[in-house]
Amino acid sequence: MSERVIPVVDQRQRALIAHVPAMPVPAVGHLLDRLHRPLRDLRISVTDRCNFRCSYCMPKGVFDKNYPYLPQSDLLRFEEIERLTRLFIGHGVQKIRLTGGEPLLRKHLEVLIDKLAVLRTREGQALDITLTTNGSLLVQKAATLKAAGLKRVTVSLDGLDDAVFRAMNDVDFPVADVLAGIEAAHAAGLGPIKVNMVVKRGTNDDQIVPMARHFRGTGVALRFIEYMDVGATNGWRMDEVLPSAEVLQRLQAQWTMVPLAPSASGETAQRWGYADGQGEVGFISSVTQAFCGDCNRARLSTDGRLYLCLFATQGHDLRQLIRSSASDEAVSSALAAIWQGRDDRYSALRASLPPEASGSAGRVEMSYIGG
Ligand code: GTP
Ligand code: 5AD
Ligand code: SF4
Ligand code: SF4
Repeated sequence: MSERVIPVVDQRQRALIAHVPAMPVPAVGHLLDRLHRPLRDLRISVTDRCNFRCSYCMPKGVFDKNYPYLPQSDLLRFEEIERLTRLFIGHGVQKIRLTGGEPLLRKHLEVLIDKLAVLRTREGQALDITLTTNGSLLVQKAATLKAAGLKRVTVSLDGLDDAVFRAMNDVDFPVADVLAGIEAAHAAGLGPIKVNMVVKRGTNDDQIVPMARHFRGTGVALRFIEYMDVGATNGWRMDEVLPSAEVLQRLQAQWTMVPLAPSASGETAQRWGYADGQGEVGFISSVTQAFCGDCNRARLSTDGRLYLCLFATQGHDLRQLIRSSASDEAVSSALAAIWQGRDDRYSALRASLPPEASGSAGRVEMSYIGG
């Protein structure tokens, strides 16, 4: 039986104050952090709840009925998310990813999407609005999400074998329902669809080739994600990480694979294609090949804190600022100053950190800041 792990400190109790700088920072559409990385991608967590209990993300022993999820009043309201997004766009954000927890558990999410879909970048472009979901509610919601202005979805799926998948989600959810969700998303026009598979050695690595075979030739891009030491509760161990290089070898034993050029700068995945033209796969290798060098992602937590890295321990409290009746200019300057001070690059430093610094104590959970 696994022991219940309780985070030493609930990091959500401690936030950094989002200061308004004395000199306003103009919103000129580009903003660089201390490592010269622009801000392009805003990932917004709309709920810290989920109906799955994937052991690598929300292990059952911790996320039980006693877990202190955020109360409704702590959640950013849709109007608040819309306002912050508009201000982020002024500093160069072009892409929005709605995440969670499971974002489709947030009531009336389509109303938020509707609001975000009318926003325009400085060049007059619509935002690339995407969503990461476990797929369990897509059959019911895909058409409504599309109608509201969602462009595409990424679905998490860790195996094709029903028993393996039920064990991975740990709530006995059947794989057929997620596959139906992917179909529904496709039918609704929410493509190109990506499927994310977190690989845990010894748990679901026997699903690598079956998953690849299933999605080959369908237009769905399957991405293999190295199991990460994110958060403080998943009991991560390096020996459960299957390096992407090994995943690739297993694919190469079946098919001829060719490397593909990146499709965008700051991309998380390294892309490979099937030589016979049957589509592509991706490798997200945060553990063995960090991609912090051009990381252009900011994360807005469910309760409105700005996190500068997936592995951060503290976030900057934007909610307090916007609820204090600060002007748009003040909020815009504050978030710009936060980005300008950013030097986070945890994955790149992981290997060289002393054990006490690379330990997980104090890290926020991914279900709270969003994947
Ligand atoms: P697309 O635009 O659809 O390609 O989005 P993406 O490439 O950002 O992919 P997605 O949002 O699906 O992220 C895939 C997975 O990569 C996440 O679920 C995380 O596991 C991991 N990931 C995403 N962003 C980061 C990051 O900034 N750092 C690290 N270490 N991992 C990340
Ligand atoms: N390692 C890698 N990816 C993770 N995710 C959550 N926890 C982890 C982890 N420990 C990602 C998965 C999932 C998304 C919602 O979050 O990619 O698809
Ligand atoms: Fe839920 Fe996604 Fe986390 Fe699994 S990985 S527990 S589906 S938020
Ligand atoms: Fe970006 Fe932090 Fe991930 Fe590096 S570890 S890619 S800085 S979020």
